[in-house]
Amino acid sequence: MLEIRNLKKSFGTQRVLKGVNLKIKNGEITVIIGSSGCGKSVLLRHLIGLMKPDEGQILLDGMDLTNLPKEELKRVRMRFGMLFQDAALFDSMNVYENIAFPLREHRRVSEKEISEAVKQRLQEVGMKNVERKLPSELSGGMRKRVGLARALVLNPEIVLYDEPTTGLDPITSRAIDDLIVQTQQNIQGTSIIISHDIRATLRIANTIAMLHDGAIVAVGSPEEMMNHENAIVRDFLDYGLPKNFRA
Ligand SMILES: Nc1ncnc2c1ncn2[C@@H]1O[C@H](COP(=O)(O)OP(=O)(O)OP(=O)(O)O)[C@@H](O)[C@H]1O
Ligand SMILES: [Mg+2]
Repeated sequence: MLEIRNLKKSFGTQRVLKGVNLKIKNGEITVIIGSSGCGKSVLLRHLIGLMKPDEGQILLDGMDLTNLPKEELKRVRMRFGMLFQDAALFDSMNVYENIAFPLREHRRVSEKEISEAVKQRLQEVGMKNVERKLPSELSGGMRKRVGLARALVLNPEIVLYDEPTTGLDPITSRAIDDLIVQTQQNIQGTSIIISHDIRATLRIANTIAMLHDGAIVAVGSPEEMMNHENAIVRDFLDYGLPKNFRA
């Protein structure tokens, strides 16, 4: 289990995370929602040690990730896959090399195995004939899908997705959502997704957590959240749905 305990983070005088507490269950899809700029991406970066909190802990099976030595953090990171909000591909590497990168870094595998893995991952995200293209030669949605292929290439047990479908057309979005659910089932792992797509969130989340004003203000199943006593939570979900969606 992954547990976030009293996590605090400020940038200068701006207090972004004011004491975040959240337990993330293994084998579940947890979706984190919250308004733009509220600190969702910052929170996700803390989970894999890309940012250090001012206070608080991230516990993975009881081990605190916030003060691990570099080498150990590197080892722990292999258990995570992350899709960044902007895909964060390596600009100078083509698609093939981007997806192959984690394999070359962390696994001793033959070129043939790499080639097969890249091909399979690209197929899963619905892309072909793009291996030799550079990120700058791809559309935003294509970059996102390549980022997803790279995030999953090591079969991580915990996958973090920062807005995996934002900016994609409805059909591709749906396909990516299905892929996330399918990946989740295959690896029996843990998925943490940041999403502004309320409809998709209600469809695929086991648990929804809402970040608001630097803290998690509500956690529950989609149904519990839709009927939450806190109006901020209900309204946030309601606004995200097409009119009469509930009816
Ligand atoms: N490295 C940084 N240095 C300074 N301020 C930062 C840094 N990273 C994030 N921030 C600030 O922290 C706040 C939260 O940013 P964050 O990217 O987590 O928002 P978000 O909830 O992911 O928003 P969105 O839904 O638009 O992606 C913002 O005000 C942002 O300017
Ligand atoms: Mg963000």
